[in-house]
Amino acid sequence: MELREVMGNRRSIRYLDPEKPVELEKIQCMLEAARIASHFGNNNSIQALVVHRETATEEQIASLHSPVGGFQMQLAPVVILWYIEQDAMDEAGERLRELVECGALGYGPDRHEELEKTLVPLFNRIGEALKGPGMPDMDCGQAVAQATLMALEQGLGTCCQGSGDWEKVHTAFGLPESCRIVVAQTVGYPLENPDAGGQRPRLPFEKLFQLNSIDNPFPRSQEVIDDLTQTRLFQPAAPLAGREEQIEGIRKKFKLPGSGMI
Ligand SMILES: Cc1cc2nc3c(=O)[nH]c(=O)nc-3n(C[C@H](O)[C@H](O)[C@H](O)COP(=O)(O)O)c2cc1C
Repeated sequence: MELREVMGNRRSIRYLDPEKPVELEKIQCMLEAARIASHFGNNNSIQALVVHRETATEEQIASLHSPVGGFQMQLAPVVILWYIEQDAMDEAGERLRELVECGALGYGPDRHEELEKTLVPLFNRIGEALKGPGMPDMDCGQAVAQATLMALEQGLGTCCQGSGDWEKVHTAFGLPESCRIVVAQTVGYPLENPDAGGQRPRLPFEKLFQLNSIDNPFPRSQEVIDDLTQTRLFQPAAPLAGREEQIEGIRKKFKLPGSGMI
């Protein structure tokens, strides 16, 4: 699959096979992809705790159940808890020095000196503020997006999940105070067709994107749309024929409750 098709095929897969274990090597590939995503100041504050249903304790699994996760937590053989290690910002200077050392920041011959006079003091000054929601959450999104595409390439399905009680999850997995869980990602082999019933709806392009001024929608070329449709970034819109019957069959087989999706 070309990248465009992989991206087009990236949908939340909520029905995962609880009876088909996921190879830890495949999860490793997802984590490797997340690790090399771009991170603000190269801080790598995005970290993850992998919950492997087969080997986790009952208390740990129970902590994941939530009204927003619904039946999905019950089915998923693996749940990845993506969290921000807020204290990573305390080492911001070190990360910047590594970047300068490998020629990434574009300073001149006095690069070490320049860095110590400019970015390092700046990061030290604003470091505490940067630990909070904002840039690290953006990093998390980038890391999870890369991990998600890697999952898809390996035949896996995933869905991001919120929680009604992150405190409980935090405690069950012994995460330190400095860590803030952002999202849980269920991972497994799809029970539903991997096309998951078609492309999900989105708000109109013109409503979302602008050029130069907020009241000037970004021009959308039909030629580009045609090209992206042909190369399968855009795929047939949901719902596809047979979707409801398939979901009903899965619900019955695994005795799933009626809802839980948002
Ligand atoms: C940060 C985040 C949190 C989400 N939380 C939930 C959730 O708690 N339960 C759920 O069923 N879906 C959740 N989703 C999935 C979205 O509902 C889904 O992405 C959206 O409906 C679009 O569908 P698609 O991903 O198939 O394109 C979440 C997605 C993201 C990115």
